[in-house]
Amino acid sequence: MTSTVITGIGELVTCDGTGAERLGVQHDAAVVVDDDRVVWVGSAAQAPAADEAIDVAGRAVVPGFVDSHSHLVYAGDRSAEFAARMAGEAYDGGGIGVSVTATRAADDQELARLVGARVAELRAQGTTTVEIKSGYGLTVDDEVRALRIAREFTAETTFLGAHVVPADYQDDRDGYLDLVTGPMLAAAAPYARWIDVFCEPGSPHAFDGDESRRVLLAGRSAGLGLRVHGNQLGPGPGVQLAVELGAASVDHCTSLSPADVAALVDAAEVTTATLLPGVEFSTRSPYPDAAGLLAAGVSVALATDCNPGTCNSSSMPFMIALAVREMGLTPAQALYAATVGSARSLRRTDIGRIAVGARADLTLLDAPSHLHLAYRPGVPLARALDLPAP
Ligand code: NIG
Ligand code: FE
Repeated sequence: MTSTVITGIGELVTCDGTGAERLGVQHDAAVVVDDDRVVWVGSAAQAPAADEAIDVAGRAVVPGFVDSHSHLVYAGDRSAEFAARMAGEAYDGGGIGVSVTATRAADDQELARLVGARVAELRAQGTTTVEIKSGYGLTVDDEVRALRIAREFTAETTFLGAHVVPADYQDDRDGYLDLVTGPMLAAAAPYARWIDVFCEPGSPHAFDGDESRRVLLAGRSAGLGLRVHGNQLGPGPGVQLAVELGAASVDHCTSLSPADVAALVDAAEVTTATLLPGVEFSTRSPYPDAAGLLAAGVSVALATDCNPGTCNSSSMPFMIALAVREMGLTPAQALYAATVGSARSLRRTDIGRIAVGARADLTLLDAPSHLHLAYRPGVPLARALDLPAP
């Protein structure tokens, strides 16, 4: 057991639900951690003694960001697809097949190295918990491999065998669904906490409402929690399905009807709407109305969706800046959504806030306050705090 007292905090943002905009801001504060847990939060003048001390020299301290939606297990590069999109080409999910081919061709060691480098890149920008999906393997062995590698880096692993219908099953959608809901799910479940499906009837590659329901029900029977990619490219049944089945999260929510919003309000205790503004940025699409969703009473989270196709950014600070600039959130609302909101979408209360008993996941900002996250977009202000080894 090694205890550490953190002092010199310019602004402590606890996100403990108290005070202005629920941020629980404290000044002249200190935090004491013991191994991986917070054991004391309060006035620096009253901080108890500890084995080690870290003086953060006036920096702001915020809860480590929770990135509740990423696709980090892939090989290959789709920058040319991005360039084509910026020149006017539309996104319909077809590029996923390019990443599937490259990922299948990579050996285990190379794939693990790529994922490790991406997780390090997230941490260097202040993210301390990341959810990682499979979905670029789409064979039993390749999906299991993706989840096994993801498991080396996080407990929040998600089976996304229903990402698209792969080329080898193009004329046999039902056969692929039999595989995903049968042998692939059985092999993947031991390595996954969640199941997800790309529910997008407008895409020829993704799944419609009935197909998505089948995938989610099978996942639930296998003991997995539910997440849904829904309402990204256009209107669709994803949100209603997620709410009906009690999914923890429905992600994207770019194209919502008034009935979808009403369903999310009613389900706010159970289902979080996870917004991924980096996708709108990188696909040049209209942003969802995050401020309207929050005002209506929807549970809102922010995540990167870091993936080789629709958003190749691992930066939660960039998502916060986009949420403020493009989706109408205040800086406090955006930070809360990137911490407590994302933790909630993973059904976690031990992360996303700085409070006694929570994990000792702290992020330092090279800035005097959390406002700088949106005020100084693109500037590398945030990094996860490394604590002394226990
Ligand atoms: O969340 N929508 C489906 N999946 C990813 C995109 C994956 C890709 O294009 O490679 C997403 O946007
Ligand atoms: Fe995604």
